[in-house]
Amino acid sequence: MPDSDENKDAASYGIGVPAPRKAFFLKGLDHMDWGIKDRMSRIFDSRSGHTVMLAFDHGYIMGPTSGLERIDLSIVPLVPYADCLMCSRGVLRSCIPPDVNKPISLRFSAGTTVLNELNDECLLDIEDAIRLNASALAIMVSIGGQYEAKTVANLVRTADWGARYGLPTLGVTAVGKELTRDARYLGLASRVCAENGATFVKTYYCDSGFETVTAACPVPIVIAGGKKLPERDALELAYRAIDQGAAGVDMGRNVFQAADPIAMLKAVRGVVHDRLTPDQAYDLYRDQQSGSPSE
Ligand code: 5RP
Repeated sequence: MPDSDENKDAASYGIGVPAPRKAFFLKGLDHMDWGIKDRMSRIFDSRSGHTVMLAFDHGYIMGPTSGLERIDLSIVPLVPYADCLMCSRGVLRSCIPPDVNKPISLRFSAGTTVLNELNDECLLDIEDAIRLNASALAIMVSIGGQYEAKTVANLVRTADWGARYGLPTLGVTAVGKELTRDARYLGLASRVCAENGATFVKTYYCDSGFETVTAACPVPIVIAGGKKLPERDALELAYRAIDQGAAGVDMGRNVFQAADPIAMLKAVRGVVHDRLTPDQAYDLYRDQQSGSPSE
């Protein structure tokens, strides 16, 4: 023990200087615990308030999807340009070098492939998510589907674990063949995720009324990209989503199936973080394409 007689007297109390009171930069999360906010701050850039997540979890239901046949060749080179990686634990362990040190949105529910209708989805083990140092737990929620109650129960259970261990829960709204991708449905599904404890929500953009989806969801929304579109159209989709209140994108096929995935990811970043217009972002894409004169 140090001798108390020799201790320097504490004197820097800053009397009269108020302690900082700063609101958290993401909506709806002010009252969350420190661990949740810390992990959300790794996923989202506090300067722009937005995120560009790279989704390559498709194989867990689709097998070797186009562009994901060799994750080591197609995805690993993209990692430096993404803010967060969304993948299954199998691909994370076998293909992603741990020293890339990116936040991981871990696919935390599983159970059915494209060969079957959605049915008895299960959850992974929370200890495994912690072992993998996941920054978020991504849960598929099938609102309006036959297994709605099962998937909502999975979300509730995951949000409880997340609260216990400081891990954000990402509610991912599934769109079954029978469900319409309009603002009414997406608004309902997103809101249900938030009400049941999702820290943030992943859903789809829709052409009409998307601003009502983001307005009525009390936590941040990120959008999936969906099927591959021409590059300029995908940039336009991202632009509109951000313009109408999305806090980011969690894109897969429109990035890794692009003619030049690195150039595409840079252009998406331009839209999401720097508010480039679709035309400006498309110019950036063409400029960055390998083989372009300015490359
Ligand atoms: C499926 C998912 C996928 O990760 C998601 O669809 C993102 O990929 P894409 O942009 O290719 O649609 O969450 O539930």
